[in-house]
Amino acid sequence: MITIAIDGPAGAGKSTLSRKLAENFGYIYVDTGALYRTVGLKFLNLGFDTDLSCNISEILEKTTVDIRFVDGQQRVFLDDKDVSDDIRTPKASMMASAVSAKPEVRAFLIDMQRKLAKENNIVMDGRDIGTVVLPDATVKIYLTASADARAKRRFDELVLKGEKVTYKEVYDDMVQRDYNDMSRKIAPLKKADDAILADTSDLDLAESLELLIKIVNEGK
Ligand code: DC
Repeated sequence: MITIAIDGPAGAGKSTLSRKLAENFGYIYVDTGALYRTVGLKFLNLGFDTDLSCNISEILEKTTVDIRFVDGQQRVFLDDKDVSDDIRTPKASMMASAVSAKPEVRAFLIDMQRKLAKENNIVMDGRDIGTVVLPDATVKIYLTASADARAKRRFDELVLKGEKVTYKEVYDDMVQRDYNDMSRKIAPLKKADDAILADTSDLDLAESLELLIKIVNEGK
């Protein structure tokens, strides 16, 4: 199977570009951040905050997370309910980052990710795909952009969806999330030694996609 691993910080354009890249090559697109968001939502629904002072394993034992593909689009299910839209709030983002630092949560989600990669040609995006989940991926890309460029894109996205947020809130959340994701002990966000660096700070969507297609064509 051909596996394209795309890692990088929040707001670098990973999901949009990975989806388009997958379409271009006829592969399926797997957004692993959605899985961490789904687990985060479970803990939010139970009333916990990002301190997560609870028995995580016990809660995970009573939790099911599924990925299903509807018309080729990934949907995520929490305890059999489609939560694909509910996971896209600033609160759910912060909770996803918090739960993702817990080894129990990472262990809970890793087999599902590897199984998908074993059975399909895929583009999979996340934080640890090239380093931990698929260390033998066919092509690894580390996609990044300046914090300013990333916060601006994420802000525009949220405003378009009608969320009431300020640019400063989005920027501060993003910097905090980068710090959490890069400094955690287990599977921190970092570039795999053999990943190709793609910086999209000064590229628009079409140019970024063109760059990624070129990297994949040269690497596969
Ligand atoms: O890609 P995203 O913003 O939807 O991810 C949400 C959070 O999930 C992110 O802050 C860190 C975590 N995550 C992770 O730890 N490992 C992954 N492979 C994907 C996401």
